Amino acid sequence: MNKPRLYSGMQPSADSLQAGNYIGALLQWRDLQETYDAFFSVVDLHAMTQPNNPAELREKTRRTAAQYIAAGIEPSKSTLYVQSHVPAHAELAWILSTLTGFGEASRMTQFKDKSQRYGQDGTTVGLFTYPVLMAADILLYQTDIVPVGEDQKQHVELTRDLAERFNARYGKAFEVPVPVIQKDTARIYDLQNPTAKMSKSAATDAGVLWLLDDPKATAKKIMRAVTDSEGSVRYDRENKPGVSNLLVIYAALTGRQIPAIEDEYAGRGYGDFKKGLADVVVNEFGPVRERALDLLDDPAELDRVLAANARRAAEVAERTLGDVYDKVGL
Ligand code: ADP
Ligand code: NA
Repeated sequence: MNKPRLYSGMQPSADSLQAGNYIGALLQWRDLQETYDAFFSVVDLHAMTQPNNPAELREKTRRTAAQYIAAGIEPSKSTLYVQSHVPAHAELAWILSTLTGFGEASRMTQFKDKSQRYGQDGTTVGLFTYPVLMAADILLYQTDIVPVGEDQKQHVELTRDLAERFNARYGKAFEVPVPVIQKDTARIYDLQNPTAKMSKSAATDAGVLWLLDDPKATAKKIMRAVTDSEGSVRYDRENKPGVSNLLVIYAALTGRQIPAIEDEYAGRGYGDFKKGLADVVVNEFGPVRERALDLLDDPAELDRVLAANARRAAEVAERTLGDVYDKVGL
């Protein structure tokens, strides 16, 4: 196979994915899997950097995988697997950690933010070495491109540095991956707080559109989304973040241009616009939700698909790890 390699993943940190995960990641992945030899992981080892109930973690992992498939990631085309099913991730992370400077890791802004929030006692060594595990995820597959959000760019830079360092010190074992940063138009904000990114781990639920919510709940959240007092459906991120966010969601899910949507709703109120958007979102998420729930109805079959994909991933990963062990003297 001569297609370039692509790697991406998401944490199983909630029962459902949210609209930002769908628009900012899954929709892009679905297209990219046509031109790339794509590896999509449910990164459950990363999810362990937050406190988890074991049964819930297992369930969230399955649900996340089901939503990948329901959104159009094809397990026969892409390699769709669960990170912990491939032990090479943790093994390579150890090797890479011995090449990572303590100061270098300390400069990761996501760690600085999170450790400040968790405090001295809540901050684990696992949280600190998270970017090294992420580097291992990417490098194991000889990855050419990594589609990520802006917040992960620094981690991919570290990954590149580690790949170059290893290759220079021991001989070439890794491709040096290139990050592909998500477009601004694929960034979705919280419906109640439209300057904060929509997130699975948002403090409150009211502004999050869940992929697996029932259609009534979804429509209700959209009708209640924060807007402004101007009353015109117009894109202006700075002065009208709420309406702009709704326009971005509308455009992303219909494939239409924002000016065309503005024209359609010219002279009409926010109520009409929100009703139109609710229809768009419900029409898009409805079938995805149905497919995901169907897949979750047959966990044995889903597990079989994931196991087969993990074997495919392990084959590639073990080749890289074997070469690395050989080069470092293990
Ligand atoms: P979350 O904040 O929901 O936990 P993650 O950090 O697990 O999201 O991100 C998983 C993927 O979804 C990443 O590719 C990320 O860029 C994308 N993503 C997450 N939230 C958004 C959003 N609000 N808008 C666009 N893309 C998003
Ligand atoms: Na995350």
